[in-house]
Amino acid sequence: MTEVIDGNAVAADIREGLTDAIERLADADARPGLATVLMSDDPASETYVSMKQRDCEEVGITSHHVEIDPDAPAAELLDTVAGLNDDPDVNGILVQMPVPDHVDERRVLRAIDPAKDVDGFHPENVGRMVAGNARFKPCTPHGIQKLLEHYDVETEGAEAVVVGRSDIVGKPMANLLIQKEPLGNATTTVCHSRTADLAAHTREADVLVAAAGVPEMIDGSMLKGGATVIDVGINRVDADTEKGYELIGDVEYESAKDVAGAITPVPGGVGPMTRAMLLYNTVWAASEQANVDVDLP
Ligand code: GUN
Repeated sequence: MTEVIDGNAVAADIREGLTDAIERLADADARPGLATVLMSDDPASETYVSMKQRDCEEVGITSHHVEIDPDAPAAELLDTVAGLNDDPDVNGILVQMPVPDHVDERRVLRAIDPAKDVDGFHPENVGRMVAGNARFKPCTPHGIQKLLEHYDVETEGAEAVVVGRSDIVGKPMANLLIQKEPLGNATTTVCHSRTADLAAHTREADVLVAAAGVPEMIDGSMLKGGATVIDVGINRVDADTEKGYELIGDVEYESAKDVAGAITPVPGGVGPMTRAMLLYNTVWAASEQANVDVDLP
């Protein structure tokens, strides 16, 4: 029987596990605060940011939100980040990506105080993770590690294949999988849009992470029997639904579920974990900044 990996349930456990830490910080006059910055009118980005704010409120993290006109000069975003860096009530800063074309994304990421970089995208934090001394692990790969841990998926000595090489998911995921530490130690291959024979690689995978952003690009015929399949894709495709679209993954669920040993659904797999790990990183940031030790889930 294929196991359906329940990201909603594991994310709920993590949120529950954070509540003690948040209370302890609040008692020490250090309630965690997360600032979200949105410089976009893309409906998907607007939805993601409002979900992040709601998540914060539900667990007792103070949420601060700044919206910047997408036509404003880049300096407005950089000045906003500088102000948040200096604000003691803000422990974590998230600038929703992508930013408009006239804004240099790398410059924005470098402008965020690395101690408040709860996305883990600042080059200092990327470097620390690659070196095996992570401060903030990026939320999606970190959440995937928590799913693998919860479902007792062995990565040590396993063949892991990551499809996609984004800075947000593919690269950090591959990096975590090769670390000499629990939930690492996998023999890891990264496939991407120029890979010559994708299926030849994916068929070797004991653990497959699909993060290319291409709807249903991986089907059951491309999988090894019993593989653990982690689908990071959240692709909006036009559909005859109330919203006018539906969300589908990078994996064709119907054919994949008959071959895989365990598989994440879309929605309800990786998505809720990404959101939970943002809360986790924010609580950790607050505890470091306030010098208050807390137990994290
Ligand atoms: N855009 C899509 N995913 C992410 C994310 O994890 N963090 C930020 N800041 N922007 C995103």
